[in-house]
Amino acid sequence: MDFQADALDRVIKNAIQVVEDSKYQIFEILDQSRAELNSLTEELQKVIKDTSDTADKVDDLEGKFRLSRIRLTEVSRDFVKYTENDIRQAYERATQFQLELSVYREKEAYLRARRDELQLRVRNSMNAIERAETLGSQMSVVTEYLSGGEVGQATKMLESAKTRQMVGLKIILAQEEERKRISREIHDGPAQLMANMALRTEIVERMLSKKDYGRVQEEVADLKKQVRYSLEEIRKVIFNLRPMALDDLGLIPTLRKYTRDYEDKNRIRTVFETRGKEYRLSSAMEAAVFRLIQEALTNAAKHGDPTHVVVEIAYQTQLVKISIRDNGRGFNTEILEQKANQHVHFGLIGMRERVELLEGRMEIESAENQGTKIVIHIPTNVENGKGYEDGEHELGTN
Ligand SMILES: Nc1ncnc2c1ncn2[C@@H]1O[C@H](COP(=O)(O)OP(=O)(O)O)[C@@H](O)[C@H]1O
Ligand SMILES: [Mg+2]
Repeated sequence: MDFQADALDRVIKNAIQVVEDSKYQIFEILDQSRAELNSLTEELQKVIKDTSDTADKVDDLEGKFRLSRIRLTEVSRDFVKYTENDIRQAYERATQFQLELSVYREKEAYLRARRDELQLRVRNSMNAIERAETLGSQMSVVTEYLSGGEVGQATKMLESAKTRQMVGLKIILAQEEERKRISREIHDGPAQLMANMALRTEIVERMLSKKDYGRVQEEVADLKKQVRYSLEEIRKVIFNLRPMALDDLGLIPTLRKYTRDYEDKNRIRTVFETRGKEYRLSSAMEAAVFRLIQEALTNAAKHGDPTHVVVEIAYQTQLVKISIRDNGRGFNTEILEQKANQHVHFGLIGMRERVELLEGRMEIESAENQGTKIVIHIPTNVENGKGYEDGEHELGTN
């Protein structure tokens, strides 16, 4: 799971790098485009001026050419008044203007085409710059978003994804553990007892065929004891799966019975106390609270070897506070993390996860030879004294 989160981290870092690089490139392109736009605009202005100058020149030449042709017509018509030289001069002037005119007309046509082309390029260049500017600022937003920046959303998203993943995985592992435990319990307890009983009924059968009634009676009496014992074992498994008393009687009576049994079984003085006015919690929440206390008490008996344990539940407004303390040998809470990483001890971690799923919090106070105290706060959204109404606050975790 860490591996995947790290991979995700790497992917995001790469993405940020790529976007940063692209942003840099876009800014470079923007600079170049702006410089090009400047020179294009300069050239365009010059071409516009040239075009209009040339057009003026063409107008001027057109006028001169017209006049020169009129003059030529006049001169060539009146042989009396004008000499041959006059005619030649008039002709040369007219052809000169004609030539100049065609040159300037061509120049004007070229300049107009060039002007149109430049205008188009300036427009395109301005559009490109505008798009690049938008892209650049969008990319800034993207990098800021990805790298956390002020907003820090990506990091937060990543972190919450990481924890969600971890919690999900641990829940699956815990469920697997639970199933393993239950199958072991049934296999070692009731299943073995029943196999044994099947064998013994066969023996009874054989004794019956031999008419050995005395021994049959003995065997049947023994079998009856075994059947009762098996029934008890099966009830224990069922109780561990989900104490039916929880639904029928509620949390407090179930815990009262559980702590009494615990005291008898482990020979540890066990006190169970409640404070405040009890109100019903959602069925999922009651089951969770029961499991929390069960796990804490199991740990005390298994690891702490105490002479005394105290379980306390306080019903407050919108909150239940649960504390379980023992006077056993205690432990160094710092080694918990290590043990968790070895994936062997799920009890306390599972407890913490259950509590977090209920949006509560859990504190463990313990030290060598100082006993252990676990305090859990769970928000209930129930005003004290009002009680839990069925159908509300269903968590659906059970
Ligand atoms: N009440 C307690 N007294 C002493 N040690 C405890 C107690 N509760 C937990 N521990 C220590 O914390 C460890 C982790 O507990 P837990 O997560 O329930 O795993 P497990 O019970 O499977 O060992 C235990 O192995 C034990 O060393
Ligand atoms: Mg445990």
